[in-house]
Amino acid sequence: MEEVNDETRDIKILAIETSCDETAAAVVKNGREVLSNIIYSQIKVHTVFGGVVPEIASRKHMEKINPVIDAALSEAGLSLEDIDAVAVTYGPGLVGALLVGVAQAKAIAYAAGKPLVGVHHIEGHISANYIEHKDLEPPFLCLVASGGHSHLVLVEDYGKYEIIGRTRDDAAGEAFDKVARAIGLGYPGGPKVDKLAREGDRFAITFPRARIAEAPDDFSFSGLKSAVLNYLNQCQMKGVEVNKADVAASFQQAVIDVLTDHTIAAARRIGIDKIAIAGGVAANSSLRRQMKEAAQKNRMTFYYPSPIYCTDNAAMIGVAGYYEYIKGVRDGWDLNAVPNLKIGER
Ligand code: KG4
Ligand code: ZN
Repeated sequence: MEEVNDETRDIKILAIETSCDETAAAVVKNGREVLSNIIYSQIKVHTVFGGVVPEIASRKHMEKINPVIDAALSEAGLSLEDIDAVAVTYGPGLVGALLVGVAQAKAIAYAAGKPLVGVHHIEGHISANYIEHKDLEPPFLCLVASGGHSHLVLVEDYGKYEIIGRTRDDAAGEAFDKVARAIGLGYPGGPKVDKLAREGDRFAITFPRARIAEAPDDFSFSGLKSAVLNYLNQCQMKGVEVNKADVAASFQQAVIDVLTDHTIAAARRIGIDKIAIAGGVAANSSLRRQMKEAAQKNRMTFYYPSPIYCTDNAAMIGVAGYYEYIKGVRDGWDLNAVPNLKIGER
């Protein structure tokens, strides 16, 4: 395998992401420029079941992985020979889903004689911020809020992370999905709650904002979820009609207050003035607006990716993969899916 070490040459990464219910492939140039970003969303298939069915996700990934990769290369106007390395999400995520991407990445890289770079899904989400903010460089503090994770991560350098806070129970996106189901909005809940909340009064119902005294940077959303379910039950028992838009808006505001307050407080304490958000929940329109206002008030610079780079995609994996690649990280043909992979672990 010949690798040319010329720093002036463009580096093009083919990236693959199959950790949950999006089959995605992308080509990224020099870690910051997206040449193609193909996403096949399985949402429609899973909606009928009210959530992601792992076996169906794996089967759909197998069906779509090759066409999605072909489309990513052809939209970038490149062939496999033009690619410098193949990056792939190897965890965390659904094991069967991850395996499809990892196996395909290994096959392609091996056949084409290209290096293989395994990428952590959450490190990918964080790296999505580099795509549209060419000036963004570590260190910065990033709030990662997705369906499976809620973390406050200090990005000390490219590929160097310290977890400052984490959820003790449900992830923020999980709370959105569960509340959406309870008020009859269906799956996926986040975007539906986001939309309905615009018609509601966010001050109509007071839901709890959890704070863990001995760990102020950690999150807890299960109490909030229970409070919403209790409220709905009580309304039903009393025969009171529920204003769903008010529930959506008040619930969403409770999540936003917690996410915003924790992020700002941690940044102030650490003494960092650059904050970013990432993950599916970062696509939430009110969170983006309110985080921006809070950052301005605290004289911090706020970075956030476009919604398409917040939810699962392969471009973010290509960015994170690029920074690993230029550091010299290479994985062997024994690379395996690691469903509970920790941040910064190799
Ligand atoms: O990052 P992501 O696509 O997948 C994971 O890595 O989990 O995040 C998906 C999560 C889901 O829980 C979804 O409901 C939530 O992100 N989400 C949103 C919005 N769009 C997606 N939550 C709130 N508001 C949104 N607009
Ligand atoms: Zn994700």
